[in-house]
This record gives sequence, structure tokens and C-alpha cells, in this order.
Amino acid sequence: MPVPETDHISYQRSFYIEGGNFNYAGIVSTSIKSILKQMDFPGDVVRKCAIVCYESEINVVSYARKGVVNLTINPDTVQIEVIDEGPGIPNIDQAMQQGYSTANQKIREMGFGAGMGLYNIKSYSDAFIISSELGKGTRLLMTINIKK
Ligand SMILES: Nc1ncnc2c1ncn2[C@@H]1O[C@H](COP(=O)(O)OP(=O)(O)O)[C@@H](O)[C@H]1O
Ligand SMILES: [Mg+2]
Repeated sequence: MPVPETDHISYQRSFYIEGGNFNYAGIVSTSIKSILKQMDFPGDVVRKCAIVCYESEINVVSYARKGVVNLTINPDTVQIEVIDEGPGIPNIDQAMQQGYSTANQKIREMGFGAGMGLYNIKSYSDAFIISSELGKGTRLLMTINIKK
């Protein structure tokens, strides 16, 4: 069977997120955190990955129908890609602002909706890409550098 060529060995894993289900909200970021810890990554790398993953995961649970998190560990970077099927974000610049939130009462009662998620994702990422299509969904790509 053909195996694609690569100049390095990378580790990849995907995780499913169910929109609207707060019972499992946070489980993907907890899993990714323990994988990275077990692989002995530096504490700041683990922390940054856990934060950006947690915030994106909560957003998928809060606002989308379903999503997937793709974790890729390369020699120099950890990449966390979060893709969802959902309403999309009408104004990304506005959504990125500190304190901007459209969270409803139910989400706020659970302690979410401070409007800091996307802002923190961007600040804890070494590279951050966000794209969104109205009525279709949203894709985030966060890259965390592993400094040797
Ligand atoms: N995956 C998503 N799908 C649709 N809208 C989103 C998504 N993520 C974020 N948003 C929108 O961007 C706003 C800001 O998100 P965020 O900074 O995480 O703050 P919060 O989740 O506390 O509202 C949300 O209130 C929501 O309107
Ligand atoms: Mg959020």
C-alpha cells in the first residue's frame, strides 16, 4: 500500500465535538493537554495549546452544530485546527474584540460568554488563521511553536 512521502514524522489525531452539549465541553482540550504532557512538551507549550483548544471547543459547543479538532504535532510546531458546521461569524473583526459576545442567557449562566475567547486564542497562538462562511461554519488554525 502507498504511504505518502514526508520529511518528518508527525503525530495526528482528530476529536469530535457535539454542538450544544455542555456535558462534555472541555473534554477535547483536556485530552490534548494530557497527550502533550505525556510527550514531555514544555509547560508553556502545553498551557498555550490547552487554552486555545479549550476556547475554540467551548465556542463550537456554544454556537455550532458540530465540529472536529485536528491535532498535528510536528518537530517544531503543534497545530490545532478546529472546523465546525454552524452559523459562521458575520463580522470576524468585531468577534475578535475583547468583551464582544452574542452568548445567550443559558451560556452565560454556565459561566461562559465573557467575550475573551477569540482574543485569547489569538494572543496565545504564535500564528492564527480564522475564516468563516455564513450559514456554513468556521475554521480556526492555531500554531504553537516548540522552541528548542
Ligand atoms: N465557532 C463559532 N461559530 C459561530 N460564532 C462564533 C464561533 N466562535 C465565536 N463566535 C462568535 O464570536 C463571538 C465572540 O467569541 P468569543 O471571543 O469566544 O467570546 P464568547 O464565546 O465569550 O462570546 C461569540 O459571542 C459568537 O458570536
Ligand atoms: Mg468563546
